[in-house]
Amino acid sequence: MKRMRKPVLLVTRRLPDGVEARARRDFTARLNPEDVPLRGTVLAARSSGADALLVCSTDRLDAATIALLPASVRVIATYSAGTDHIDLAAARTRGIAVLNTPGVLATATAEIALLLILMAARRAAEGERLVRSGAWRGWEPRQLIGTQIAGRRLGIFGMGSIGRELARMARGLGMAIHYHNRSRLPEALEQGATFHASDASFLPNCDVLSLHAPGGPATRHWLNAARIARLPRGAVVVNTARGSIVDDAALIAALQSRHVAHAGLDVYDNEPDLHPTYRELPNVALLPHLGSATAQTRQAMGDMAMDGILAVLSGAVPANRVV
Ligand code: DGY
Repeated sequence: MKRMRKPVLLVTRRLPDGVEARARRDFTARLNPEDVPLRGTVLAARSSGADALLVCSTDRLDAATIALLPASVRVIATYSAGTDHIDLAAARTRGIAVLNTPGVLATATAEIALLLILMAARRAAEGERLVRSGAWRGWEPRQLIGTQIAGRRLGIFGMGSIGRELARMARGLGMAIHYHNRSRLPEALEQGATFHASDASFLPNCDVLSLHAPGGPATRHWLNAARIARLPRGAVVVNTARGSIVDDAALIAALQSRHVAHAGLDVYDNEPDLHPTYRELPNVALLPHLGSATAQTRQAMGDMAMDGILAVLSGAVPANRVV
């Protein structure tokens, strides 16, 4: 009997063991054990003869890079929900399918958003630094007084799967949910949250604002000085979506004036070179893009990406196909 050829898969980053094991099982896998950056002509050369690429949000697949890819490449799967690092129009023009990993990372990312809300509002990063420094002299009535979360209004910008998962968790903490989205959700998904068609009506209701919209030109610097001015004084701002959504200079000015009392950030414009002032501000909690970083989620993302690649190569259209 003729043996079926395993498809060739180029993996651009070092992935968790279980994901790489699956890649070796189902594909002729070209892994990247040294985790060296693969860009432009190097990526194109490594892709020679590959049927599929498994890339990450740290890879830049702009139009010029996509133009260099060999004709053998039929599908690019990104190990992320976000696709703002891929020129989707260029992929479409080349007839290359693009897949992402939505949904499976909703709980893990919402957990990090919730963690940052609590870290920021309850000044946990400042407290941790105080204890580690050895300068803590014991309980004090005026020490590190933060903002209670229960009973406050949480505003969610972008009510996709991550935003809805955060809403579910925050309701359990006694928060009232408001959201701003391209369109209103069906009641069953809204779960009592208040929809705002305009950001002018949404922002004044955000004691805590959590960003969950996709990155890209449409949302670039959405959180600018004018929108920040509409937040209630003393608001908390959290970003686990994309750094590009925030105008850093405007957020930093608001943190310095305390119009925004606290912020919690997991993502940054131009990662990992975040705006240096963030490191100096005591009232911002900083995490290193941990949104999807649980063992369960990272495996599920790999499985979803590879299931999708196999589906595309066999002529099917998986639900996670964006192009
Ligand atoms: C995502 O899935 O988009 C995460 O931010 C990782 O890139």
